[in-house]
Order: sequence, then structure tokens, then C-alpha cells
Amino acid sequence: MKQYDFSYKTLEDIRERLKDLTICLPLSEETDILFKPLMLNKRLLQNRIGIAPMEGFDACPDGTPSELTRRRYLRYARGGAALIWFESVTIVPEGRSSPRQLVLTKETLPQFQRFVEEIKETGLKENGYAPFLVMQANHSGRYSHPNPQTPQPIAAFHNPVIEGDRPLDSSCIASDDYLASLEDKFGESAKLCRKAGFDGIDIKSCHGYLLGELAGAFNRPGIYGGNFENRFRLLFNSLRHAQCVQSDSFMITVRLNIFDGFPYPYGYGVVRDGSLNTDYSEPLEAVRILHRELGVSFINITMGDPHIRPYITRPFLRDDKFLQMEDPLAGLARMYNGSAVIKRNFPELVVSASAPSYLHQFAPNLAAGAIQAGACDQVCFGRLAFANPCFPRDIKESGFLEPEKACIACSKCSSLGRGGMPAGCIVRDAEVYLPYYKSLMDKNKQRKQT
Ligand SMILES: Cc1cc2nc3c(=O)[nH]c(=O)nc-3n(C[C@H](O)[C@H](O)[C@H](O)COP(=O)(O)O)c2cc1C
Repeated sequence: MKQYDFSYKTLEDIRERLKDLTICLPLSEETDILFKPLMLNKRLLQNRIGIAPMEGFDACPDGTPSELTRRRYLRYARGGAALIWFESVTIVPEGRSSPRQLVLTKETLPQFQRFVEEIKETGLKENGYAPFLVMQANHSGRYSHPNPQTPQPIAAFHNPVIEGDRPLDSSCIASDDYLASLEDKFGESAKLCRKAGFDGIDIKSCHGYLLGELAGAFNRPGIYGGNFENRFRLLFNSLRHAQCVQSDSFMITVRLNIFDGFPYPYGYGVVRDGSLNTDYSEPLEAVRILHRELGVSFINITMGDPHIRPYITRPFLRDDKFLQMEDPLAGLARMYNGSAVIKRNFPELVVSASAPSYLHQFAPNLAAGAIQAGACDQVCFGRLAFANPCFPRDIKESGFLEPEKACIACSKCSSLGRGGMPAGCIVRDAEVYLPYYKSLMDKNKQRKQT
């Protein structure tokens, strides 16, 4: 297996490597375009920088934000990103990704209201504008792990690529009745989300979680599997339920996978010859319906299943558990080409792109290049925000990002989350997160010894 390093000192170095790989990635020396205002749901955003949804695995057991959750979001608000896409929040208790995931219910609403208000006030005070806040509503599906003991998967179908020779018990496959009951739960979540003060809700359909997995449920029998209409039934119907609260001050959006990274018939967005080559015809149809029929005006584009093939969702340099199966630049090229396909087919749709952090200090140059090239209108930054929540201000002040203020794509934030610890940057925010990582390493060592 080839090891990759990140020895690029200039954009030219990266361009040389792209030439060798015969792939394209939009890169720009100029980052001013990131600070060009953007109209979103009748609100003028001050810049095109978003914080990507990033679970911190640090909520209180009752699902309310903890001090650590609060610290993360207030740092984001101070940093000046015009949009903060809140991490995944479960719509039902059994769909919780971990016992530390945020839960928005009637009971936790007051804490969310105070939290949202504090984030907006912080942004207003520090930067003169409140960030646009989107909440990500999710059901974790096969990755549900609501109790500390064992995972409790609720899968859309049997996927041998994931399950291998240990297939899930058939009781873990969600019934049609169960799926139908969730449509209304997304509607309820949207109502609570608006009451909490968010500016919008994302009906999450990506990364192998329940709605995302259904998009590839070619072999599932019944009304949620097989043809395109069935596989997208839950997403479209949930969106219709959420629309009861849609207005000029409350937006409905979707974080959408356009490529699952599994061969047909176990994932969508791929050709049907068993390879992993992309085929965007179904994702384009999904976006057409979301945008032209269901009135979605803003969408975030993403890919892959980070639990199985994280190099697709978030190209990395190293990972404690996974191998890098392609040059990370190839992963970035797939991601930004995919966004460009969507944007070029729907020029009036506001398209948000994902996953720039692998490029270390050049991440803003990729985001700016992608906007300039018409591949997207806005970019959401994930791991860079863990490493340096102040990056929007840093870029605004100097036009670039210092290498020592960038993410190094070491994937330790993911290792923390996977290990049941609060997730953050052990390199740039070591005082808070390095002790968690050390304790995780000790735990793993002890487990190996017993
Ligand atoms: C620790 C961690 C938690 C994440 N949590 C979420 C999440 O809650 N929802 C989501 O849609 N994506 C989540 N992601 C994916 C990020 O939003 C983002 O797409 C990914 O990190 C690639 O962007 P980047 O290269 O800028 O980091 C998470 C990623 C990491 C590393």
C-alpha cells in the first residue's frame, strides 16, 4: 500500500502532482471570492464559508449541549463563518449515533433555544453578523448506537460490502411501517428546530445513515426499495412533512450523497458494471426533484460512507484504522467534480461543496478556486474548523492560511469519535483533546492485553 505525504510547499507543487495524476482540481491564488456576500433564503450572508456538520460526541446524556459542545460552537461563531451547519441531531432516541449525540425534543428545547441564541449573539458581537444556523436532522440507521453497551443497527438492507461474513440479523432491517413512521418524525423535528431558533433544517441523506443508505436500496423489497421513486420515498416525504414550517426565515435543505462508494447494487451514484466509476444520472434526478418540485434552494454535496471508506468522504493522510486507497487528491477531484456537475445542471440552485481540509493550508485556495470555476457557491470546512475555528478571520486578514494554523488530515478527530471520546483536534487544540486521545490509547492497549 502506497503511503502518501503532504510535502507541497506551493500551489504550483500541487498542480504538478495533479498533472501526473491526470486529474483537475480548481485552485486559486486569490481568496477574496470567499468574502463575496451570498444570498440565502432572503438573507445576505457575509461570506461563502461554512462550518461543516461535525459531531463532537460531547453532548450530555440527556442530549443537551455540554460545556464542551458550547465551547466548540462559540469558537465557530467568533471565527466569522457566515454559516454554521450544526452536527447531526437525532430525530428519534433509537436512531442516536452514540449516547453523546445531541437530541432535540420538547424536553431539551429550552436548552437548545438558549444555546442557539448565545451562538447568534456571539457572532453578532464579534463580527457584526449572526451566523446562519442549519440543524442537521438524522436517523443513524445501521450506525445507531444509542446505549453505551453495543450498537443497535436499524439498516435499510443487507449490504455484504459492509457486513462481510457477519450479516446483520434480519430483525435489524427496518420494516416499511417503521420507515413510514419516520416521515412525521422529520416534520416534528423541523417544528422543534424552528422553535429552537435555527434558520433551517437539513434532512440528512448521506454517509450511509438511514436516508442515505435507502438511496442505494436496490435489492430491498416493498415501497422503500427497488426503483428510484421508492428509494427516495422517505427523503422526499420527510421533506414534505418538514415543509409545514418552511418560510422566508426558515429554510429546508439536504446534505446529499451523490456517490456512495459501494458497487451496484449496494450503493447509488455508480455505474452498473460492478466498478466504482461514478454515474450521476440518479443524483441529478434526485436534485431535480428536490429543487424544481420540492422547492429546495440550497443543497450540500457530499459522498461516501465514512464508517467503511472514509477516504471518499474526507480524504486523509493517515488514519489509525483505515488505509488510504487512492491519492487523496483523487478523492478531492471526485468531490469537486461531483459538485460541479450538480451546479452546472442547476445554475440557480445554491450549491455548497464539502471536504477541503485535506489540502492543509491550501484548503481556502481550493474553496476559492471551486467557487471561481462555478463548481459551487459556498464551501463547508470540517476538520479545519476543529483545528482552527478562527480560520475565516485568518484568511480574511491575510488572504491565506499559515501552515501551522491548518488541519494536517491526521484523522485523530475521527479516532476520538470512533472510540467514544469527545472529538476535536489533538494537534492544534491539544490542551483539551490530547488527554482524551491518550486515554483512548491506554484503553485500547489494555483491551489488547486482556
Ligand atoms: C469527527 C467528525 C465528525 C463528523 N460529523 C459529521 C456529522 O455530524 N454530520 C455530517 O454530515 N458529517 C460529519 N462529518 C463529515 C464532515 O462534515 C465533512 O464532510 C468531512 O470531515 C470532510 O470535510 P473536511 O475535509 O473539511 O474535513 C464528520 C467528520 C468528522 C471527522
